[in-house]
Amino acid sequence: MRARQGGAFEDTLMAEHWVENHKRDSWRKQAKASGYRARSAFKLKQIQERFQLVREGDFVLDVGCHPGGWAQVAVELVGAKGRVVGVDLMPCAPVEGAILLTGDITEPITQERILSELDGELLNVIVSDISPDITGKWDMDQSVAMTLVADVFDFALPLLTKGGGFTTKLFQGIGVEELITAVRPHFSSVRRYSPEASRNSSSEVYLVCRHHTPWKAPKASIRERYEAGVNKLVGGDEIADDPEPVASSFRVRRKKSSEDLEEH
Ligand SMILES: C[S@@+](CC[C@H](N)C(=O)[O-])C[C@H]1O[C@@H](n2cnc3c(N)ncnc32)[C@H](O)[C@@H]1O
Repeated sequence: MRARQGGAFEDTLMAEHWVENHKRDSWRKQAKASGYRARSAFKLKQIQERFQLVREGDFVLDVGCHPGGWAQVAVELVGAKGRVVGVDLMPCAPVEGAILLTGDITEPITQERILSELDGELLNVIVSDISPDITGKWDMDQSVAMTLVADVFDFALPLLTKGGGFTTKLFQGIGVEELITAVRPHFSSVRRYSPEASRNSSSEVYLVCRHHTPWKAPKASIRERYEAGVNKLVGGDEIADDPEPVASSFRVRRKKSSEDLEEH
C-alpha cells in the first residue's frame, strides 16, 4: 500500500478539480451530440431559459461569435422571421440563418460593416461572449477584458432598441462593480448570472441586462464612467516619484452558492 500524501485540504481541491473537469467534459459531449459547435452554446441556452432574453422574430447581434455556438442557438431562438449578425476576429464557418462577419469590433471598419448589415434597423438583443487573448497575467487579462466589454457596450448600446436586452461575459475581479455601476442606468434590470455550463466557475460570470432605457443614458460613455470608477478605487492613475512596492490586493472571487444575484 502506498503512503498517503497530503491532507484533507488537498483532497478537497482534487475533488473540486475532478468535478469541474467532469462537468466540462459532460457539456462538451452534449454539445457534440446535439450538433452545437461549442459547449458555450449551453451557456446561452441556460441564460435564455432563466431570462427569456430573445424572442421569435428578434434581430440579434452576437459579439465574439467564433466558432458559432451562440449563433446557432440565436438562430434557433429568433426563428425564420428573425435575424442574427455575428462578428469575431476569427473567421467563422457559416451558420445557416446568420450573417457572420470577420473583424475587430473596436475598429471603425468592422463597426461600419455591422451598421451596413443593420441598414438603419435597431437590434432587439445583443449577446456578447467576447474574450480577448489570454497572456496568463490574470490582473492584466482581466482588466483588458473589462475595458473591451465597456467598449462593446459603448458601440452597441446606441443600436439597441428601447426595451431591448444585452448579455455579456464578465471576468470576476477588479472593476466588475464599477462596470455594473456604469451600465445600470441604461437598463431597468441588471443581474449577474453564472450558467451551470460555465467552464471556470470561479472567474466567469454573465451580466444580463433587460429593458433598455435609452432616455436615462448618462452623457459620458460607459468606458469613461467605468475607468473613473476604477481610478477612484485604486487611488487615481498618477505615478508617485518613488513608489513603495505593495502587495496586490487582487483576489479571484469564488462563485457564490446562489447562481443568480440580483443587482440593487
Ligand atoms: C469564448 S469565444 C466565443 C464563443 C462563442 N460564443 C461560441 O459559442 O461559439 C470568444 C471570442 O471573442 C473573440 N474576440 C476577442 N476580441 C475580439 C474583438 N476585439 N472583436 C471581435 N471578436 C473578438 C475571440 O476571437 C473569440 O473567438
